[in-house]
Amino acid sequence: MASLPKPLSQNPSIELRNHSHKSIAVQGNLLFLSPRTRLFGKVKVSCCSHQTEALVDSSIPKSDVPVLSCPEVIERLNTFRDNYTGKQQFLAMYSSIVGGITTDPAAMVIPVDDHMVHRGHGVFDTAAIMDGHLYELDQHLDRIIRSAAMAKINLPFDRESIRSILIKTVTVSQCRNGSLRYWLSVGPGDFQLSPSGCDCPALYAIVIQDQSPFNAEGVRVVTSSVPIKPQQFAIMKSVNYLPNALSKMEAEEYGAFAAIWLDNDGFIAEGPNMNVAFVTREKELLMPRFDKILSGCTARRVLALAEGLVREGKLSKISVQDVTVEEGKGADEMMLIGSGILVRPILQWDDQVIGDGKEGPITQELLKLIVEDMKSGPPTVRLPVPY
Ligand SMILES: Cc1ncc(COP(=O)(O)O)c(C=O)c1O
Repeated sequence: MASLPKPLSQNPSIELRNHSHKSIAVQGNLLFLSPRTRLFGKVKVSCCSHQTEALVDSSIPKSDVPVLSCPEVIERLNTFRDNYTGKQQFLAMYSSIVGGITTDPAAMVIPVDDHMVHRGHGVFDTAAIMDGHLYELDQHLDRIIRSAAMAKINLPFDRESIRSILIKTVTVSQCRNGSLRYWLSVGPGDFQLSPSGCDCPALYAIVIQDQSPFNAEGVRVVTSSVPIKPQQFAIMKSVNYLPNALSKMEAEEYGAFAAIWLDNDGFIAEGPNMNVAFVTREKELLMPRFDKILSGCTARRVLALAEGLVREGKLSKISVQDVTVEEGKGADEMMLIGSGILVRPILQWDDQVIGDGKEGPITQELLKLIVEDMKSGPPTVRLPVPY
């Protein structure tokens, strides 16, 4: 009879490999060897993106799991953050639960009974910070408020107060280049499914310094086999991004940058955190309609900026309509558009090389226009941070 995997508690030890595939044997209480290597008791834990092996030492007395006081927890959270070596730095966080801003990453936490944590009942949005300015904050703020309404989340404060809190969080962070991310949640209360016990909707915001260099190189995409979210959920930016994460992982498994969703009628929809657009042979800018996908703030801004290219005769026209896979794969240019990547040329979709397989001239123009807009656009899209 085939043997079932043993439950963790019956395995002799835990060993999870780190990136270099070295495993480490440890005893004692919680230690932090490296940010991705945490050691609990005799349990060896390290992280690897592709592989984990779990073997638990059954001889560990349960009492080896320490019971910690609040100051001890804080000390360990500090140690955890001190050893964190991710590329991103978290500069400031606001939480309506504590009613203030912290710049200490160890204190950047949210309550475990928040329904956003255990039921996914929350919505989020972002805004880029460039050269000390918030880009399209109001557009993103309008979207999170729309998302919150669709998710039946009451606002903890009115729009103006949320806006002031977000700006203040960036001011405190002193961040000049990075991003602001924020969440509206139905809030903490209990572990029930119904949020009826949550009488304190929450706002959280974090400022992230991102050092990753801006990349305009063309990329490859594949068609996602992970189903697209139903329309009701695709048009709101909720924290339920499991399909999006799985779709991105699928792309990475194929060595591609992103996977493209088709909608239930087979039309081109969007990527997991970006919109998509095309330039046809006739120099028409084509973008899928926004009624079954997220209304991208960057994509909408690109549509406005592209009007200038129509005036200059570089584009014949701009159309937001259903786009077939045949039209998309037969286009001269294809691009991804989103606040994280701005405008990124696509050189190949599945087996189809797009156009001549090089970064397209209109895509590059649109990228230039959006970067210029971020650096010197009008006050409607560019808000100076009052440091
Ligand atoms: C599913 C999805 N589509 C499109 C976008 C692009 O939107 P934006 O340009 O506002 O970042 C995002 C990113 O937020 C997204 O998550």
